[in-house]
Amino acid sequence: MTLPVRQLGNSGIEVCAIGLGAMPMSLAGRPPEATALETLRTFLDGGGDFIDTANVYCQNELELGHNESLIFKALKQLHHLEVPVATKGGLRMHGDSWTVDGSPSWLRMSCENSMKNLNTHCIFLYQLHAPDPEIDILESVGELMRMQQEGMIRYLGVSNVTRKQIRRLVESAAPIVSVQNRCNLFHREDIDKGLVEFCRENRITYIAHSPVGGHYNHANFMDNRLIERVAAKHGASNYAIALAWLLQQADNILPIPGASKPESIANSLTALDISLDAEDLAELGKVGAQ
Ligand SMILES: NC(=O)c1ccc[n+]([C@@H]2O[C@H](COP(=O)([O-])OP(=O)(O)OC[C@H]3O[C@@H](n4cnc5c(N)ncnc54)[C@H](OP(=O)(O)O)[C@@H]3O)[C@@H](O)[C@H]2O)c1
Repeated sequence: MTLPVRQLGNSGIEVCAIGLGAMPMSLAGRPPEATALETLRTFLDGGGDFIDTANVYCQNELELGHNESLIFKALKQLHHLEVPVATKGGLRMHGDSWTVDGSPSWLRMSCENSMKNLNTHCIFLYQLHAPDPEIDILESVGELMRMQQEGMIRYLGVSNVTRKQIRRLVESAAPIVSVQNRCNLFHREDIDKGLVEFCRENRITYIAHSPVGGHYNHANFMDNRLIERVAAKHGASNYAIALAWLLQQADNILPIPGASKPESIANSLTALDISLDAEDLAELGKVGAQ
C-alpha cells in the first residue's frame, strides 16, 4: 500500500505525511542514545522520511546543537544520510530558557553551527524559529535568503507566524516553502481562521508542531472521552486519531509528532492508515468545545 504523502511547498519534493519531531530526544528526561537511535530506526523503517530539529533542542546553552548532532550520528549509523532534515535558527538559550533573536548576525552564526552539527554544506530546510518582535521579519528572512543564495540553505521556512506575517512574506516574494505552527485538536485556530488555507493557496506546506498536544501536555490532552470513542471504533490509539484528524483537515498539513521512544513513533505512523468518516469528524469537531 502506498503511504499518504505531502509536497514540500512548490519544491517538487514529496515526503511521507507523518514526520518526526526530534525535540523530546534532547530535552530534560531524554532517552539514552541507543533508544533515540531505535526511535529513528523505527520511523525510517515505517516509511517516515522527514525529521524536524532545531539548534536549541538541548538542555542548556553549553550543549546547543545536541539534537542536530544526535540526528546526524543516528542517520549515519543507519545509512540514511539522504533523509531530509529540517532545522531552525532564531532562538538563543540563556541557561535552560529560550529567548528570541532574529538578528541577521545570530541567524548566520546559528546556521553555520547547524551545518557543522548536521555535517552538511547545505541545510535541507532552514526555518526561522520565531519572529523577533524587535526586528522586521523581512530583515530576518532576508538574511536567510542571502544564505540560500550563497548555497548554505536549500529551502526556507518560518515558524510561529501569524497570518499577517506570512501574507507579508508572500507579498514580498520570499521563497517560503513551509510554515510551522502549533496545531492540534485543541488548538485549531490556524485551520478555523484560514492560515492553513492561505498556505495551501500559495503552495506552502503547513507543518503542524505539537500535533498531539505538545511536549508537556500530550498525556492530559489525549485522555479525552470523545477522542477515546472514535479511537475505540477504529481500534486505534487516541494519538493516532488526533494525527489522522489533522491529516484530513487539508492536504498541505504535515504533522510532526514528537517521540523519544520507538513505540510512540510506531504508533503515530498508524495514523497514515486511518480514514475518519463524517460521523468521526463531527464527533472530533466537538473536542475543543468540551
Ligand atoms: N516550531 C516550534 O516552535 C516548535 C514548538 C514545539 C515543538 N516543535 C516541533 O514539533 C515536534 C512535536 O511537538 P512536541 O514534541 O512538542 O509535542 P507532541 O508531538 O504534541 O507530543 C510529543 C510527545 O507525545 C508523545 N507521543 C507522541 N505521539 C505518540 C503516540 N502515538 N503514542 C504515544 N505517545 C506519543 C511522545 O512521548 P515519548 O517522548 O514518550 O515518545 C512525545 O514526547 C517537536 O518534537 C519539535 O520538533 C516545534
